[in-house]
Amino acid sequence: MPPSPPSPVPAVVLVSGSGSILQALIDACDDPEYGVTIAAVGSDRPGVGGLVRAQGAGIPTFVCSPGDFPDRGQWDGALEAEVSRHLRQTPPDQPRWVVTAGFMRLLGTAVLGACSVLNTHPALLPSFPGTRAVADALAHGVKVTGATVHLVDEGTDTGPIVAQRAVPVRPDDDEGSLHERIKVVERDLLVRTVRRVLTRGYETHDRKVLLA
Ligand code: GRF
Repeated sequence: MPPSPPSPVPAVVLVSGSGSILQALIDACDDPEYGVTIAAVGSDRPGVGGLVRAQGAGIPTFVCSPGDFPDRGQWDGALEAEVSRHLRQTPPDQPRWVVTAGFMRLLGTAVLGACSVLNTHPALLPSFPGTRAVADALAHGVKVTGATVHLVDEGTDTGPIVAQRAVPVRPDDDEGSLHERIKVVERDLLVRTVRRVLTRGYETHDRKVLLA
């Protein structure tokens, strides 16, 4: 008998919006060769498109809204409990993986202490961190912007950079047109980077991420 293929690496994906980048991950995970499976999709708000996409794909979902908790620390703890519940099949010697794909909140110490987190950001970090990245890049007049996949730490888009790809800005771009072209790149970059990092691993030396 040939050896059975390794089990796919489970990941929880967190979203706050329409979830088009989540959809790219869902589609990638349909291929058993991809090596990653989405154990659950969580959101900080109910009813968003990303949750609907996950439900349509038969993926478990959960909502953990800061407004339902007396303070940020308790929200962070509840989110960590949800994430860990869905990742309990992760082998004890492996990281528990979370992917944030348009999740518009800073994660707290409970989640970051329990999990390794990859985020996609619609700019070439360290330029234009935060939630207005595309508008800020346009307003600054840059000719090239792009997409970054990075490891998440407690700062706002400050974690070590794993992968980046450039997107030229066109003279007639507005925020919507530019963001849409960046998202095309984000989908491909995140799908490739999630596979590489979760299935093959990485090392960090100071801030430099070396992929295995
Ligand atoms: C992406 O550009 C992500 O980087 C940003 O929010 C967007 C999410 O898009 N933070 P979608 O909801 O996946 O379409």
